[in-house]
Amino acid sequence: MASLTIRKLDDAIKADLRLRSAKNGRSVEEEVRVILREYLDGRTEPAMRPAAAEAAAPLRERAETTSEGRITLIIGGGIAAYKALDLVRRLKERHLRVRCVLTDAAQQFVTPLAASAVSGERAYTALFDPTSELDAGHIRLARDCELIVVAPATADLMAKMAHGLADDLASAILLAAKGPILLAPAMNPVMWSNAATRRNAEQLKRDGIALVGPNTGEMAEKGERGLGRMAEPLEIVAAAERFMRKTAKPLSGQRVLITAGPTHEPIDPVRYIANRSSGKQGFAIAAAAKAAGADVTLISGPVELEGPIGVTVVFVESARQMLKGVEAALPADIAIFAAAVADWRVAHAGEQKLKKGGGMPPLQLVENPDILARIANLKEKRPCLVIGFAAETEHLIDNATAKLRRKGCDWILANDVSAASGVMGGDRNTIHLLKRNGADISVEDWPLMSKEEVAFELVAEVARTLGKPA
Ligand code: CTP
Repeated sequence: MASLTIRKLDDAIKADLRLRSAKNGRSVEEEVRVILREYLDGRTEPAMRPAAAEAAAPLRERAETTSEGRITLIIGGGIAAYKALDLVRRLKERHLRVRCVLTDAAQQFVTPLAASAVSGERAYTALFDPTSELDAGHIRLARDCELIVVAPATADLMAKMAHGLADDLASAILLAAKGPILLAPAMNPVMWSNAATRRNAEQLKRDGIALVGPNTGEMAEKGERGLGRMAEPLEIVAAAERFMRKTAKPLSGQRVLITAGPTHEPIDPVRYIANRSSGKQGFAIAAAAKAAGADVTLISGPVELEGPIGVTVVFVESARQMLKGVEAALPADIAIFAAAVADWRVAHAGEQKLKKGGGMPPLQLVENPDILARIANLKEKRPCLVIGFAAETEHLIDNATAKLRRKGCDWILANDVSAASGVMGGDRNTIHLLKRNGADISVEDWPLMSKEEVAFELVAEVARTLGKPA
């Protein structure tokens, strides 16, 4: 077995290790062990450069040390567990961070992987998980949040709570909690009306635990109806919001304009030029800006996504239509251009379907208007903060720097969109934020994050820049 002498590691790694271990209250050796364990679990990016790690540290610290805006969501084992994933999405739309804990029974209905993908955070399942105990054990999961939500709260979980049992992670968290707890019961009507469940529910209310629902309705069991259906995710969100310290609305009063998705450039009535953009990043930014209180207009190319609640969405097809949509949505205070606009269109799209047989069609391409550059260079009506993306497959920072200067915007989020990165159409992204300060350009490397987290961090950065605390 090889041995590792920490003293001989290079200075940047040692500095990073010292910071991490001090922050986590561990020895440096123990920190190395945790990093290796995380790596084996697939949770650590092994190739993160020290500079990237350093730049990422403030982001991670903010995320890890504050309980504000954080919810621990315990998912119980019932058919309503599938709605818990929608609940996570709704909470995140409101700028809240959600850590999921799944009981054993819950994992029969949803997987920790699904919960972690939707929440953008690790999902927790085991009480005696050594990494979890060091990293976010049951005490931390119980305390590092403003609220614990249990959805669905099964008859079994309620019974355990009423009797103070703590034989798994979920019940141990509930017993260790000092803050508010909100239950969304869900069970068969006969179980809900059972005398034992009634006693337990009354006891829990006396203990100061809040309940939302259950509602009356159809049960999963065929032909059964009655009181026992879990409250709808939006009802649970509304109930949860009442417990949160003031929900941060750092962008309230700000008009935010966002572009998203690809554009389709017609060749003839049935064919078009397009790209692989899914629109996920732009839609996530719109949801995060809305949750931060902004008045949001989203101009989107053709995508298969639903507009976030409360956002004005204008769907367009081509780059020229997108430009018109953007101009019509001005004035705005902040403009964020996340669309993958097609650079070229066919000069003379066929009015009828082009037919084979007449040789290769002469597809002359002409350049589309550059929407970002056009808006960034407006004399009047220029938004005070104009932000673009740089989709690159090579020389990421150099190309993004040139783009920032050429287009005249204030910030660029550079991302690697090569096939290997999986960014186009995928759920995660690694961002390098370039900011222009006069002639100088600064670069901040962000760690790999879900597109929702990128959106959250971008909105928080915008809010900080505009001088409002996020
Ligand atoms: N953009 C735009 N209108 C265009 C092309 C791009 O608004 N016609 C915006 C994008 O929304 C993005 C930024 O400009 O915010 C950069 O887009 P990108 O595709 O990375 O670069 P291009 O300008 O298309 O340049 P190239 O394809 O040469 O990299």
